[in-house]
Amino acid sequence: MKKLRVGVLISGRGSNLKALIDATNIENYPAEIVYVISNNPNALGLNHAKEFNIPYHVIDHKKYANREEFDRAMHQKLIEAGVEFICLAGFMRLLTPWFVSQWPNKIINIHPSLLPSFKGSDSHKQAIEAGVRISGCTIHFVSAEMDSGPIILQAVVPVYQDDTEKTLAARVLLKEHESYPFALKLIALGKVEIKSSKVFVGD
Ligand code: GRF
Repeated sequence: MKKLRVGVLISGRGSNLKALIDATNIENYPAEIVYVISNNPNALGLNHAKEFNIPYHVIDHKKYANREEFDRAMHQKLIEAGVEFICLAGFMRLLTPWFVSQWPNKIINIHPSLLPSFKGSDSHKQAIEAGVRISGCTIHFVSAEMDSGPIILQAVVPVYQDDTEKTLAARVLLKEHESYPFALKLIALGKVEIKSSKVFVGD
């Protein structure tokens, strides 16, 4: 079976990267992680790449004059590594329209809220402040605007009255780890189609 060659971009802890690695290590999973890039030299998630012998590279955004130069450096590395598809997993940089246009419908992201609610890095705080009774995670194709693009899959958790950002984040994270590998699998199997900016999932 020809597996989809995936590059994962991270900035931090990398628990979603680990969930993806674990899934790709299961026999017959239709994708493989061939490259990991972190913009943060100290990202803990790099340890997962090391542990599983996945080639990785640090591209420190602080060393680039602007976003596009940084994105061009990433693009070159991804192409050199033969990457066909990109998963953002806690990647804390906004991608430029240039980068997104180089990878049309080939970048997905996971966000810890039910989009389009609660975009940004404090989604759990926003959910608690809004008093919503459910939250969850969203896996979506990436467009040039932050936390936007056609939604592939969402998973839901309850929000309890005594939840803190921490307890809610932990509950959502468990769903993230199940959902991200599942969404990638659907894509790698060719079951996901975008029509008029909406995702349709086939059998
Ligand atoms: C996750 O909650 C993800 O949804 C968000 O950033 C967090 C990254 O966590 N985009 P990790 O680095 O995968 O552990």
